[in-house]
Amino acid sequence: PPSFSHMEGSSGLGRADCRAEGGSTGFKVAILGAAGGIGQPLSLLMKMNPLVSVLHLYDVVNTPGVTADISHMDTGAVVRGFLGQQQLEEALTGMDLVIIPAGVPRKPGMTRDDLFNINAGIVKTLCEGIAKCCPNAIVNLISNPVNSTVPIAAEVFKKAGTFDPNRLLGVTMLDVVRANTFVAEVMGLDPREVDVPVIGGHAGITILPLLSQVKPPCSFTQKEIDYLTNRIQNGGTEVVEAKAGAGSATLSMAYAAVQFADACLRGLRGDADIVRCAFVASHVTELPFFASKVRLGRCGVEEIYPLGPLNEYERVGLEKAKKELETSIEKGVAFVKK
Ligand code: NAI
Repeated sequence: PPSFSHMEGSSGLGRADCRAEGGSTGFKVAILGAAGGIGQPLSLLMKMNPLVSVLHLYDVVNTPGVTADISHMDTGAVVRGFLGQQQLEEALTGMDLVIIPAGVPRKPGMTRDDLFNINAGIVKTLCEGIAKCCPNAIVNLISNPVNSTVPIAAEVFKKAGTFDPNRLLGVTMLDVVRANTFVAEVMGLDPREVDVPVIGGHAGITILPLLSQVKPPCSFTQKEIDYLTNRIQNGGTEVVEAKAGAGSATLSMAYAAVQFADACLRGLRGDADIVRCAFVASHVTELPFFASKVRLGRCGVEEIYPLGPLNEYERVGLEKAKKELETSIEKGVAFVKK
Protein backbone atom coordinates (compact mmCIF):
# COMPACT_ATOMS: atom_id res chain seq x y z
CA PRO A 1 0.00 0.00 0.00
CA PRO A 2 1.17 3.58 -0.61
CA SER A 3 3.03 5.08 2.34
CA PHE A 4 1.39 8.45 1.74
CA SER A 5 -2.36 8.36 1.35
CA HIS A 6 -3.56 11.05 -1.01
CA MET A 7 -3.66 14.35 0.70
CA GLU A 8 -6.84 16.32 1.11
CA GLY A 9 -6.00 19.98 1.42
CA SER A 10 -8.21 20.39 4.49
CA SER A 11 -8.74 19.00 8.01
CA GLY A 12 -11.70 16.82 7.08
CA LEU A 13 -13.69 18.49 9.87
CA GLY A 14 -15.62 20.83 7.54
CA ARG A 15 -19.42 20.80 7.80
CA ALA A 16 -21.68 20.49 4.74
CA ASP A 17 -19.45 20.77 1.72
CA CYS A 18 -20.94 23.45 -0.46
CA ARG A 19 -18.05 23.22 -2.90
CA ALA A 20 -19.46 21.35 -5.84
CA GLU A 21 -17.24 18.82 -7.54
CA GLY A 22 -17.27 19.09 -11.30
CA GLY A 23 -20.79 19.03 -12.63
CA SER A 24 -22.10 22.22 -14.11
CA THR A 25 -20.22 24.43 -11.68
CA GLY A 26 -16.64 23.77 -12.60
CA PHE A 27 -14.06 21.47 -14.09
CA LYS A 28 -11.70 18.92 -12.62
CA VAL A 29 -8.09 19.58 -13.54
CA ALA A 30 -4.95 17.53 -12.85
CA ILE A 31 -1.40 18.88 -13.06
CA LEU A 32 1.27 16.18 -13.55
CA GLY A 33 4.68 17.46 -12.45
CA ALA A 34 2.98 19.91 -10.08
CA ALA A 35 5.96 20.31 -7.73
CA GLY A 36 8.36 21.50 -10.43
CA GLY A 37 9.52 24.90 -11.60
CA ILE A 38 6.53 25.27 -13.92
CA GLY A 39 4.23 23.06 -11.86
CA GLN A 40 4.24 25.21 -8.71
CA PRO A 41 3.30 28.59 -10.20
CA LEU A 42 0.93 26.77 -12.58
CA SER A 43 -0.80 25.15 -9.59
CA LEU A 44 -1.03 28.55 -7.89
CA LEU A 45 -2.61 30.16 -10.94
CA MET A 46 -5.03 27.28 -11.59
CA LYS A 47 -6.17 27.47 -7.94
CA MET A 48 -7.16 31.08 -8.76
CA ASN A 49 -9.17 30.08 -11.85
CA PRO A 50 -12.92 30.26 -11.14
CA LEU A 51 -13.63 27.60 -13.80
CA VAL A 52 -11.78 24.98 -11.72
CA SER A 53 -13.73 23.15 -8.99
CA VAL A 54 -11.23 20.37 -8.25
CA LEU A 55 -7.44 20.57 -8.65
CA HIS A 56 -5.32 17.42 -8.41
CA LEU A 57 -1.58 17.96 -7.93
CA TYR A 58 0.58 14.97 -8.89
CA ASP A 59 4.35 14.58 -8.81
CA VAL A 60 6.93 11.99 -7.84
CA VAL A 61 8.33 14.34 -5.13
CA ASN A 62 7.18 17.16 -2.84
CA THR A 63 3.44 17.20 -3.55
CA PRO A 64 2.46 17.11 0.16
CA GLY A 65 4.14 20.47 0.76
CA VAL A 66 2.90 22.12 -2.43
CA THR A 67 -0.63 20.83 -1.77
CA ALA A 68 -0.71 22.02 1.85
CA ASP A 69 0.54 25.43 0.78
CA ILE A 70 -1.80 25.94 -2.21
CA SER A 71 -4.80 24.57 -0.30
CA HIS A 72 -4.69 27.52 2.11
CA MET A 73 -5.64 29.93 -0.69
CA ASP A 74 -9.23 31.09 -0.15
CA THR A 75 -10.42 30.41 -3.70
CA GLY A 76 -13.07 27.90 -4.75
CA ALA A 77 -11.13 24.93 -6.09
CA VAL A 78 -10.72 21.89 -3.82
CA VAL A 79 -7.05 20.83 -3.89
CA ARG A 80 -5.75 17.29 -3.46
CA GLY A 81 -2.17 16.05 -3.65
CA PHE A 82 -0.90 12.74 -5.03
CA LEU A 83 2.64 11.43 -4.58
CA GLY A 84 4.38 8.77 -6.62
CA GLN A 85 3.32 6.42 -9.35
CA GLN A 86 1.07 4.29 -7.11
CA GLN A 87 -1.20 7.34 -6.78
CA LEU A 88 -1.21 8.32 -10.46
CA GLU A 89 -4.47 6.55 -11.26
CA GLU A 90 -6.28 8.13 -8.33
CA ALA A 91 -4.94 11.53 -9.41
CA LEU A 92 -6.33 11.08 -12.94
CA THR A 93 -9.72 9.50 -12.36
CA GLY A 94 -12.58 11.77 -13.41
CA MET A 95 -10.44 14.60 -14.76
CA ASP A 96 -11.72 16.94 -17.50
CA LEU A 97 -8.33 18.50 -18.25
CA VAL A 98 -4.81 17.15 -17.62
CA ILE A 99 -1.85 19.54 -17.85
CA ILE A 100 1.60 17.92 -18.12
CA PRO A 101 4.73 19.90 -17.20
CA ALA A 102 6.56 16.77 -15.88
CA GLY A 103 10.13 16.11 -16.94
CA VAL A 104 13.59 17.62 -16.97
CA PRO A 105 14.26 21.12 -18.36
CA ARG A 106 17.23 22.35 -20.42
CA LYS A 107 20.59 23.53 -19.10
CA PRO A 108 22.82 25.95 -21.05
CA GLY A 109 24.09 24.39 -24.29
CA MET A 110 21.26 21.85 -24.52
CA THR A 111 18.61 21.64 -27.22
CA ARG A 112 15.07 20.53 -26.41
CA ASP A 113 15.83 17.30 -28.24
CA ASP A 114 18.59 16.54 -25.71
CA LEU A 115 15.75 16.01 -23.19
CA PHE A 116 14.17 13.25 -25.29
CA ASN A 117 15.76 10.26 -23.57
CA ILE A 118 14.41 11.16 -20.13
CA ASN A 119 11.14 12.90 -20.95
CA ALA A 120 9.87 10.45 -23.58
CA GLY A 121 9.56 7.69 -20.97
CA ILE A 122 7.91 10.03 -18.44
CA VAL A 123 5.31 11.21 -20.96
CA LYS A 124 4.64 7.64 -22.10
CA THR A 125 3.93 6.46 -18.53
CA LEU A 126 1.70 9.44 -17.73
CA CYS A 127 -0.28 9.02 -20.96
CA GLU A 128 -0.83 5.32 -20.24
CA GLY A 129 -2.45 6.46 -17.00
CA ILE A 130 -4.63 8.97 -18.85
CA ALA A 131 -5.75 6.32 -21.37
CA LYS A 132 -6.79 4.10 -18.48
CA CYS A 133 -8.35 6.60 -16.05
CA CYS A 134 -9.63 9.64 -17.99
CA PRO A 135 -9.58 8.78 -21.71
CA ASN A 136 -11.94 11.67 -22.52
CA ALA A 137 -9.89 14.37 -20.80
CA ILE A 138 -8.33 17.20 -22.77
CA VAL A 139 -4.53 16.90 -22.52
CA ASN A 140 -2.24 19.97 -22.51
CA LEU A 141 1.30 18.68 -23.05
CA ILE A 142 4.11 21.02 -21.99
CA SER A 143 7.02 18.56 -21.48
CA ASN A 144 9.77 18.98 -24.06
CA PRO A 145 10.58 18.23 -26.78
CA VAL A 146 6.92 19.02 -27.56
CA ASN A 147 7.54 18.24 -31.25
CA SER A 148 8.19 14.61 -30.19
CA THR A 149 6.21 14.23 -26.94
CA VAL A 150 2.87 14.98 -28.64
CA PRO A 151 3.44 12.19 -31.22
CA ILE A 152 4.46 9.92 -28.30
CA ALA A 153 1.20 10.69 -26.48
CA ALA A 154 -0.79 10.07 -29.68
CA GLU A 155 0.86 6.66 -30.18
CA VAL A 156 0.21 5.66 -26.56
CA PHE A 157 -3.46 6.61 -26.94
CA LYS A 158 -3.71 4.78 -30.29
CA LYS A 159 -2.30 1.63 -28.70
CA ALA A 160 -4.88 1.91 -25.92
CA GLY A 161 -7.67 2.56 -28.45
CA THR A 162 -8.52 5.94 -26.89
CA PHE A 163 -6.89 8.39 -29.30
CA ASP A 164 -9.00 11.44 -30.07
CA PRO A 165 -6.86 13.91 -32.03
CA ASN A 166 -9.09 16.79 -30.91
CA ARG A 167 -8.22 16.26 -27.25
CA LEU A 168 -4.42 16.22 -27.46
CA LEU A 169 -2.75 19.63 -27.59
CA GLY A 170 0.95 20.50 -27.40
CA VAL A 171 1.33 23.82 -25.61
CA THR A 172 3.11 26.40 -27.83
CA MET A 173 1.42 29.34 -26.14
CA LEU A 174 4.68 30.64 -24.66
CA ASP A 175 5.96 31.28 -28.19
CA VAL A 176 2.87 33.42 -28.85
CA VAL A 177 3.25 35.21 -25.50
CA ARG A 178 6.89 35.99 -26.30
CA ALA A 179 6.08 37.07 -29.85
CA ASN A 180 3.36 39.44 -28.60
CA THR A 181 5.78 40.92 -26.05
CA PHE A 182 8.71 41.38 -28.44
CA VAL A 183 6.58 42.81 -31.27
CA ALA A 184 4.92 45.24 -28.85
CA GLU A 185 8.36 46.35 -27.65
CA VAL A 186 9.65 47.01 -31.18
CA MET A 187 6.48 48.76 -32.35
CA GLY A 188 5.82 50.73 -29.16
CA LEU A 189 2.44 49.01 -28.65
CA ASP A 190 0.63 47.68 -25.59
CA PRO A 191 1.41 43.91 -25.58
CA ARG A 192 -2.16 43.16 -24.54
CA GLU A 193 -3.34 44.48 -27.89
CA VAL A 194 -0.90 42.49 -30.02
CA ASP A 195 -1.66 39.07 -31.49
CA VAL A 196 1.07 37.21 -33.39
CA PRO A 197 0.23 33.81 -34.89
CA VAL A 198 3.13 31.38 -34.31
CA ILE A 199 2.98 28.16 -36.31
CA GLY A 200 5.08 25.03 -36.92
CA GLY A 201 6.38 23.53 -33.70
CA HIS A 202 8.10 24.33 -30.42
CA ALA A 203 11.88 24.22 -30.97
CA GLY A 204 14.32 26.57 -32.70
CA ILE A 205 13.60 27.00 -36.41
CA THR A 206 10.32 25.08 -36.14
CA ILE A 207 8.93 28.10 -34.22
CA LEU A 208 7.59 30.22 -37.07
CA PRO A 209 6.08 33.62 -36.19
CA LEU A 210 3.86 34.96 -38.99
CA LEU A 211 4.80 38.62 -38.75
CA SER A 212 2.84 39.33 -41.96
CA GLN A 213 -0.35 38.43 -40.07
CA VAL A 214 0.20 40.40 -36.86
CA LYS A 215 -2.79 42.15 -35.37
CA PRO A 216 -2.98 45.13 -35.35
CA PRO A 217 -1.40 45.17 -38.85
CA CYS A 218 2.27 46.21 -38.59
CA SER A 219 4.79 46.78 -41.32
CA PHE A 220 8.27 45.75 -40.29
CA THR A 221 11.64 46.50 -41.89
CA GLN A 222 13.69 43.43 -42.93
CA LYS A 223 16.03 44.18 -40.02
CA GLU A 224 13.09 44.10 -37.60
CA ILE A 225 11.82 40.85 -39.12
CA ASP A 226 15.24 39.20 -38.72
CA TYR A 227 15.58 40.46 -35.14
CA LEU A 228 12.06 39.44 -34.10
CA THR A 229 12.11 36.02 -35.76
CA ASN A 230 15.46 35.20 -34.19
CA ARG A 231 14.43 36.45 -30.73
CA ILE A 232 11.10 34.57 -30.77
CA GLN A 233 12.80 31.35 -31.93
CA ASN A 234 15.48 31.64 -29.24
CA GLY A 235 13.42 33.12 -26.41
CA GLY A 236 13.66 29.86 -24.46
CA THR A 237 17.44 29.79 -24.83
CA GLU A 238 17.62 33.43 -23.66
CA VAL A 239 16.03 32.32 -20.36
CA VAL A 240 18.09 29.11 -20.08
CA GLU A 241 21.30 31.14 -20.42
CA ALA A 242 20.18 33.85 -17.99
CA LYS A 243 19.29 31.18 -15.40
CA ALA A 244 22.77 29.68 -15.99
CA GLY A 245 22.05 26.07 -15.04
CA ALA A 246 19.10 26.69 -12.72
CA GLY A 247 16.51 25.63 -15.32
CA SER A 248 14.47 27.08 -18.16
CA ALA A 249 11.40 29.30 -18.42
CA THR A 250 9.04 28.50 -15.55
CA LEU A 251 7.18 31.69 -14.58
CA SER A 252 6.34 32.95 -18.07
CA MET A 253 5.57 29.32 -18.99
CA ALA A 254 3.15 28.95 -16.07
CA TYR A 255 1.47 32.18 -17.21
CA ALA A 256 1.22 30.92 -20.80
CA ALA A 257 0.02 27.46 -19.68
CA VAL A 258 -2.76 29.01 -17.61
CA GLN A 259 -3.85 31.24 -20.49
CA PHE A 260 -4.01 28.15 -22.66
CA ALA A 261 -5.73 25.92 -20.08
CA ASP A 262 -8.28 28.66 -19.39
CA ALA A 263 -9.03 28.83 -23.14
CA CYS A 264 -9.53 25.03 -23.19
CA LEU A 265 -11.90 25.22 -20.19
CA ARG A 266 -13.88 28.07 -21.73
CA GLY A 267 -14.17 26.00 -24.89
CA LEU A 268 -15.38 23.02 -22.84
CA ARG A 269 -17.95 25.31 -21.22
CA GLY A 270 -19.24 26.21 -24.68
CA ASP A 271 -17.92 29.75 -25.11
CA ALA A 272 -17.77 30.84 -28.75
CA ASP A 273 -14.75 31.95 -30.78
CA ILE A 274 -11.97 30.64 -28.55
CA VAL A 275 -8.96 30.57 -30.90
CA ARG A 276 -5.38 29.79 -29.87
CA CYS A 277 -2.23 28.40 -31.48
CA ALA A 278 -1.39 24.80 -30.51
CA PHE A 279 0.62 21.81 -31.79
CA VAL A 280 -2.00 19.26 -32.81
CA ALA A 281 -2.75 16.37 -35.18
CA SER A 282 -3.34 18.32 -38.37
CA HIS A 283 -3.91 18.29 -42.11
CA VAL A 284 -2.82 21.88 -42.81
CA THR A 285 0.50 20.55 -44.12
CA GLU A 286 1.61 17.08 -45.21
CA LEU A 287 2.96 16.46 -41.69
CA PRO A 288 0.79 14.52 -39.22
CA PHE A 289 1.26 17.19 -36.50
CA PHE A 290 1.60 20.94 -36.85
CA ALA A 291 1.07 24.05 -34.73
CA SER A 292 -1.41 26.58 -36.05
CA LYS A 293 -4.50 28.48 -34.96
CA VAL A 294 -7.26 26.19 -33.72
CA ARG A 295 -10.77 26.86 -32.42
CA LEU A 296 -11.48 25.26 -29.05
CA GLY A 297 -14.91 23.98 -28.07
CA ARG A 298 -16.82 21.36 -26.09
CA CYS A 299 -14.83 18.50 -27.64
CA GLY A 300 -11.42 20.14 -27.65
CA VAL A 301 -10.14 21.21 -31.09
CA GLU A 302 -13.22 21.91 -33.22
CA GLU A 303 -11.56 23.54 -36.20
CA ILE A 304 -8.02 23.95 -37.48
CA TYR A 305 -7.53 27.13 -39.47
CA PRO A 306 -5.48 27.27 -42.67
CA LEU A 307 -2.16 29.09 -42.43
CA GLY A 308 -3.33 32.07 -44.47
CA PRO A 309 -1.18 33.95 -46.98
CA LEU A 310 2.56 33.68 -46.24
CA ASN A 311 5.20 35.98 -47.67
CA GLU A 312 8.38 34.67 -49.30
CA TYR A 313 10.41 34.90 -46.04
CA GLU A 314 7.77 32.86 -44.21
CA ARG A 315 7.50 30.29 -47.02
CA VAL A 316 11.26 29.66 -46.81
CA GLY A 317 11.01 29.41 -43.01
CA LEU A 318 8.13 26.96 -43.33
CA GLU A 319 10.11 24.60 -45.57
CA LYS A 320 13.03 24.55 -43.09
CA ALA A 321 10.66 24.07 -40.15
CA LYS A 322 8.89 21.14 -41.84
CA LYS A 323 12.15 19.25 -42.40
CA GLU A 324 13.12 19.40 -38.74
CA LEU A 325 9.57 18.75 -37.56
CA GLU A 326 9.30 15.61 -39.65
CA THR A 327 12.39 14.13 -37.96
CA SER A 328 11.15 15.03 -34.46
CA ILE A 329 7.70 13.58 -35.12
CA GLU A 330 9.15 10.34 -36.49
CA LYS A 331 11.43 10.05 -33.46
CA GLY A 332 8.44 10.26 -31.12
CA VAL A 333 6.39 7.73 -33.07
CA ALA A 334 9.34 5.31 -33.25
CA PHE A 335 9.87 5.53 -29.48
CA VAL A 336 6.46 4.01 -28.79
CA LYS A 337 6.44 1.59 -31.73
CA LYS A 338 9.89 0.11 -31.02
P1 NAI B 1 11.46 20.93 -13.22
O1 NAI B 1 12.56 19.94 -13.20
O2 NAI B 1 11.57 22.14 -12.36
O3 NAI B 1 10.09 20.22 -12.84
C1 NAI B 1 9.70 19.03 -13.42
C2 NAI B 1 8.86 18.25 -12.42
O4 NAI B 1 8.48 17.02 -13.04
C3 NAI B 1 9.63 17.90 -11.13
O5 NAI B 1 8.90 18.31 -9.99
C4 NAI B 1 9.75 16.39 -11.21
O6 NAI B 1 9.70 15.76 -9.93
C5 NAI B 1 8.53 16.04 -12.03
N1 NAI B 1 8.59 14.71 -12.60
C6 NAI B 1 9.66 14.02 -13.06
N2 NAI B 1 9.30 12.80 -13.43
C7 NAI B 1 7.96 12.69 -13.23
C8 NAI B 1 7.02 11.67 -13.41
N3 NAI B 1 7.36 10.48 -13.91
N4 NAI B 1 5.74 11.94 -13.08
C9 NAI B 1 5.38 13.14 -12.59
N5 NAI B 1 6.24 14.14 -12.39
C10 NAI B 1 7.51 13.91 -12.70
O7 NAI B 1 11.24 21.35 -14.75
P2 NAI B 1 10.37 22.59 -15.32
O8 NAI B 1 11.23 23.77 -15.45
O9 NAI B 1 9.11 22.67 -14.55
O10 NAI B 1 10.06 22.05 -16.82
C11 NAI B 1 9.23 20.94 -17.05
C12 NAI B 1 9.18 20.61 -18.53
O11 NAI B 1 8.54 21.66 -19.27
C13 NAI B 1 10.55 20.42 -19.18
O12 NAI B 1 10.51 19.30 -20.04
C14 NAI B 1 10.72 21.69 -19.99
O13 NAI B 1 11.60 21.51 -21.07
C15 NAI B 1 9.31 21.94 -20.43
N6 NAI B 1 9.04 23.31 -20.89
C16 NAI B 1 8.16 23.48 -21.92
C17 NAI B 1 7.86 24.72 -22.41
C18 NAI B 1 6.88 24.88 -23.52
O14 NAI B 1 6.75 25.98 -24.05
N7 NAI B 1 6.12 23.87 -23.91
C19 NAI B 1 8.51 25.93 -21.85
C20 NAI B 1 9.36 25.66 -20.73
C21 NAI B 1 9.64 24.39 -20.30
